[in-house]
Amino acid sequence: MAEELTPETPEEEEPIKQRKNGLYPGVSDELAENMKSGWADTELHGLEPIPQAERTAARRAELSRRFPGDRLVIPAGNLKTRSNDTEYNFRPATEYAYLTGDHTNDGVLVLEPTADGHQATIYLLPRSNRENGEFWLDGMGELWTGRRNSLTEAEQLLGLPAKDVRELTAQLAEATGPVRVVRGHDAAVEAALTDKVTAERDEELRIHLSEARLVKDAFEIGELEKACASTARGFEDVVRVLDKAEATSERYIEGTFFLRARVEGNDIGYGSICAAGPHATTLHWVRNDGAVRSGELLLLDAGVETQTLYTADVTRTLPINGRFTDLQRKIYDAVYDAQEAGIAAVTPGAPYRAFHDAAQRVLAERLVAWGLLGDLDVEKVLELGLQRRWTLHGTGHMLGMDVHDCAAARTENYVNTTLEPGMCLTVEPGLYFQADDLTVPEEYRGIGVRIEDDILVTEDGNRNLSDGLPRRSDEVEAWMASLKG
Ligand code: GLY
Ligand code: MN
Ligand code: MN
Repeated sequence: MAEELTPETPEEEEPIKQRKNGLYPGVSDELAENMKSGWADTELHGLEPIPQAERTAARRAELSRRFPGDRLVIPAGNLKTRSNDTEYNFRPATEYAYLTGDHTNDGVLVLEPTADGHQATIYLLPRSNRENGEFWLDGMGELWTGRRNSLTEAEQLLGLPAKDVRELTAQLAEATGPVRVVRGHDAAVEAALTDKVTAERDEELRIHLSEARLVKDAFEIGELEKACASTARGFEDVVRVLDKAEATSERYIEGTFFLRARVEGNDIGYGSICAAGPHATTLHWVRNDGAVRSGELLLLDAGVETQTLYTADVTRTLPINGRFTDLQRKIYDAVYDAQEAGIAAVTPGAPYRAFHDAAQRVLAERLVAWGLLGDLDVEKVLELGLQRRWTLHGTGHMLGMDVHDCAAARTENYVNTTLEPGMCLTVEPGLYFQADDLTVPEEYRGIGVRIEDDILVTEDGNRNLSDGLPRRSDEVEAWMASLKG
């Protein structure tokens, strides 16, 4: 039983080493032998391609045309350790998912230059070997982490050849010719390419893959619609449990929305902001550990990410007891009017910045009218940007697979360009009066309001994808009352 264990192949080396090191002290050779056999063949045959397979092929073809002659390497990324042998939930790099439709860790898409374009191959972790015991002795084996697709199954599902990713770094290290890699996701892949790539050329690849996503196709718009519909249901869930949240904390709200996101989608698309009372004035309040009190406002900024990784990004600011106070309503209605002006400015051919300018103007007008800016007129306030003490952030951003989508797009192709049909962006003005802001009357302090919707640019204007949730103050109250029965 204690005879010398000698690896016969390189794959056998690691599991056997672990046994020798005593990581699996109870494994007798008899058990190791026993575990090798007696398993059914579960290979799946005749699988249909995933719905987006045609589109991912078209995206790869476009990428190929943009970088002729270059080897292109796009990793999914690896698991990240949370602690010891526990990992965070995995979410693939957006560029990889966009080009393959695959969502598994450690995958790498490689476009190999050919005489007339590129040959795309996806490198994946194959099914675990049962002969060498890795399926049960290795913590990453399928017995621990779940069945993976075989490479043949992956080929059918994704519509491109699949190979074993464990052979990739050696191949890349030997590769000749120009290479570009999407950085920041897979250190081992990058290490294999260090002497073959430059930061500047890799950045061109990243920029291209960001700009390629600026205009959404019909499939993507459908996914964003799904994300918004699911998000609306999540907001309804929250309204139904506000009394329970009041008895506990913002955590109850976070958990309630999360349940909807995990049941209907892949996940939340970003950390939910569940900000009650003065927490609403903190733009990215994700601690969500505060009290929920009747008479205060709840700013809920949350979005469901679909199974295909498209996310909504929606904010509603709700009176916790179902009725706005006069002052809350005054501030809310100002933000609503600003959002209306912003949404109206989302139209094809309009400068991207127009919706921001329109919303800021309305907010500046109200702040002046309320006497918060002394004797200054609106034009002067806008020129000096003084409204920004309370408006704080830009009025929106592109939305898609990333909540702040297309973030690597160049200024001339994003904020300095004009809107086109198929672009999807948030319009999300807000007013935030910090609890310690001595420049506003005391009753304003600690009030924060944001309203955020996901707006698709259409041929003749726009469509609000998140209009399943009411926005006007009286409609919000009526909707809350109907849900609370
Ligand atoms: N939820 C982050 C944002 O609205 O941009
Ligand atoms: Mn947003
Ligand atoms: Mn948001």
